[in-house]
Amino acid sequence: MSRFYISTPIYYVNDEPHIGHAYTTILADVLSRFHRIAGHDVFFLTGTDEHGQKVEQAARDRGIDPQTHCDEMVVRFQELWERLEISYDDFIRTTEDRHKEVVCAILQRLYDEGEIYADDYEGWYCVPDERFWTEKDLVDGNCPDCGRPVVQISEKNYFFRMSAYQDWLISHIETHPQFIQPETRRNEILGFLKQPLNDLCISRPKARLAWGIPLPFDEEYVCYVWFDALINYITAPGYLQDDAAFARWWPASCHLIGKDILTTHCVYWPTMLKAMGVEIPETVMGHGWWLVDEQKMSKSLGNVIRPLDLAEKYGVDAFRYFLVREMVLGLDSSFSEEAFVRRYNAELANDLGNLLNRSVVMADRYLEGVVPVVDVKHPALRALQEQTEKTLEGTLDALNGLNPNRVLDVTWQLVREANRFAEVQAPWNLAKETEKRSELEVTIYGLLETCRHLAVLIFPVMPGKAREIWKQIGSEENLETLHLDDLKAWGGLRPGTQVVPGGPVFPRIEEVDLEDKQEEAEEKDMSDEKQDVVSFQEFQKLKLRVARIQAAERVEGTDRLLKLQISLGEEKRQIVAGIAQYYEPETLVGKQIVVVANLEPATIRGVESQGMLLAASEGDSLALLQPESEIPDGAEVR
Ligand code: ME8
Ligand code: MG
Repeated sequence: MSRFYISTPIYYVNDEPHIGHAYTTILADVLSRFHRIAGHDVFFLTGTDEHGQKVEQAARDRGIDPQTHCDEMVVRFQELWERLEISYDDFIRTTEDRHKEVVCAILQRLYDEGEIYADDYEGWYCVPDERFWTEKDLVDGNCPDCGRPVVQISEKNYFFRMSAYQDWLISHIETHPQFIQPETRRNEILGFLKQPLNDLCISRPKARLAWGIPLPFDEEYVCYVWFDALINYITAPGYLQDDAAFARWWPASCHLIGKDILTTHCVYWPTMLKAMGVEIPETVMGHGWWLVDEQKMSKSLGNVIRPLDLAEKYGVDAFRYFLVREMVLGLDSSFSEEAFVRRYNAELANDLGNLLNRSVVMADRYLEGVVPVVDVKHPALRALQEQTEKTLEGTLDALNGLNPNRVLDVTWQLVREANRFAEVQAPWNLAKETEKRSELEVTIYGLLETCRHLAVLIFPVMPGKAREIWKQIGSEENLETLHLDDLKAWGGLRPGTQVVPGGPVFPRIEEVDLEDKQEEAEEKDMSDEKQDVVSFQEFQKLKLRVARIQAAERVEGTDRLLKLQISLGEEKRQIVAGIAQYYEPETLVGKQIVVVANLEPATIRGVESQGMLLAASEGDSLALLQPESEIPDGAEVR
């Protein structure tokens, strides 16, 4: 595939954008950017849906005319997209002439060909959703979609012969498994199509709704907003207006939507295109809902999450990362700020941030900040190179599956492999022995080269942070134009490059709310009995917990003691540990350890210690006890 056309829904301008809109748009942006670095030609379309009852109502509520309302509201979307680094290629507004002309031309042609006809309509109508329903669609007499009451309507209207395409549509879906994704959505639509399909009412009498595109063959009517809106996907790439551009981009590779608008995209839209004689898009991808506390976001519940608030608080890149990482494609996700902070600290501050920081700091400290000349075929580098290859392959696979969440999974496998490599090679030890110089150089080169790969790999998700990483490793290539192919030959980081340490790219977010955890630490009373066996009750008195080292420094005047600042989730503590001969303080930062949390506080060499860490030792060796996989800080060890 060398061309990739992706669209978002065009959003209603009746309200401010919220986290759901931001999610779809960020996801589309991430996929676009990945396809660009995969070397594909990309057309990324977003825009606004400006006609119809919702928008007319919103304008009326504000006492202004609909066009003025739209002109004001569209700016909120455009400004948000700019702030969130959304790299769209075209932004379409349905009130633009280019769109209205295409809609009129299509309506006229379908009318002339008998695909659209006039009839008297009697039925149920959901005013807020602007949708007609038949008696049997209703759920307890209410709209099956939103649950609100419907009203009975009888009037002349225009209809599109959608029913004529039912059999064709079913067989299209059956023979094109990639058309509706994920599979649960496809089954939903196939289930829906087991009932006879009705014709689609595509007009609204002006007396009832004036804000729409007038029907070219009957000026008493405007076009139904969905019939108008869906056409945006072919207007933008040039349908009827620029044949060459249209031939290049159509059919779309992916219409990315939320699951709320599945029927319009998987039933109305393909049948409309079929009637027009236009090809069907390759994929409609329906993602899940962002919920808040397991509930739908709504203004009346007051739980609407405003994307800008979060981006301001935690940074645009971390916000983009979280949305892409947290939602498993196709499933619903509950948004929580705690989950955000947890992921940020574990995956960004600790895994990725720590890798970059230690790599650059050690290059600076041990190699005068200069990227060394090394043999990239050195056996010590093999595992890292193999993981890099796997990650590149996995990235392309995940892209074909339109799954950026999976891309991050495979990228983080490389991050973890690199951190493991650092632990195993222990450059802080190699640096102590002059005869280990070349191994030290190989190690630091391996780390920096991996950071270079990672900067390119995370660029589509976190462009700003990728640029910062790029700057710190001193790379002189242009990150914005680099392709995944350029990464295949491992060892692109040029010897002689000067690294530029710049501090943590992802500073940890401090988790506050200390109160209740402190009480827990108070109820402790270790019995002093000297016995070789302990009872289960006695053992249970011991509170062992996972903690994360946030800072480490030597205790002045000793060569044995380190002073550690640790986090037990919400609680922060200081402990003193006799491990200075085994660990350089800076290499401990970010590590998870196990501590005795209810040990009586003690003052050691004038420094207060509120607990004790666990380590195994034998002869001259010492090893810290660590959880085998990442677990929230503060987790109890039982
Ligand atoms: O439906 N979770 O516009 P719209 C995830 N104009 N995504 C969400 C979401 C949530 N809680 N809420 C909204 C329309 N979205 C029509 C579309 S297309 C030809 C016309 C996202 O402003 C999701 O992508 O109501 C959903 O499909 C879209 O916003 C609906 O936006
Ligand atoms: Mg909606």
